[in-house]
Amino acid sequence: MTKLGVNVDHVATLRQARRTYEPDPVTAASLADLGGADIITIHLREDRRHIQDRDLRLMKQVVFSKLNLEMSVAREIVELALAERPEQVTFVPERRQEVTTEGGLDVVSQRKVLAPLVKRFREQGIAVSLFIDPETQQIQAAREVGTEFVELHTGAYANAGTEAQRQDMLEKLCQGAKFSRELGLRVNAGHGLTYKNVGPIVEEINAEELHIGHSIISRAVFVGIKKAVEEMKGLIYKHSVLARAGS
Ligand code: PXP
Repeated sequence: MTKLGVNVDHVATLRQARRTYEPDPVTAASLADLGGADIITIHLREDRRHIQDRDLRLMKQVVFSKLNLEMSVAREIVELALAERPEQVTFVPERRQEVTTEGGLDVVSQRKVLAPLVKRFREQGIAVSLFIDPETQQIQAAREVGTEFVELHTGAYANAGTEAQRQDMLEKLCQGAKFSRELGLRVNAGHGLTYKNVGPIVEEINAEELHIGHSIISRAVFVGIKKAVEEMKGLIYKHSVLARAGS
């Protein structure tokens, strides 16, 4: 069954709004674990706008599922990641002006930077994923730089303005997932997924991991993190069963 990675960055965003100690994303990670999260995801950005070094350090100790660190290729962040040793790293593009990660990584133009980095992490026993748009050239380049996983960017699907566009984007993701698997890559997916739009992604893409942040943390404000995670897990379970029944 598709696993759920819960991104707790937004808890840190709330804390940083006051530069205080609460709410603590480490507590959020533990409660998400209790709610059945299979993975905890955090993004240690170069500008430290939400997650801080101490969060990474403590989560590495308290998360009992699996810790997935989203990161840029910046040297300082790479060294920190290698020192803290999360179970998995996901390379993402990072720009200071953006509100959230916008496009996928341009692996085609960054092959020379990514190949040695992927090798270094994998040699240390840390799984590597590359966050990319579901495009043939990017998938091929991802294979060439030696990554084990790709995370297909679901943002265009999530933000589609019409039902027809949404179906097109879903089809593009299906093709991308199929092509990735043909090349021997393992497929994750994420970005912009919600309780409303996750169903078709579970049923059609059959990703190993879905990484979801904003929607779960938004619901958690009203129902609590443990329950919000349980509800998303329930949806993923339901749609996994439906997919199996239909195939
Ligand atoms: N996957 C990646 C690579 C991301 O950068 C993000 C956002 O941090 C997510 C998934 C989660 O996106 P959202 O918060 O829209 O669910």
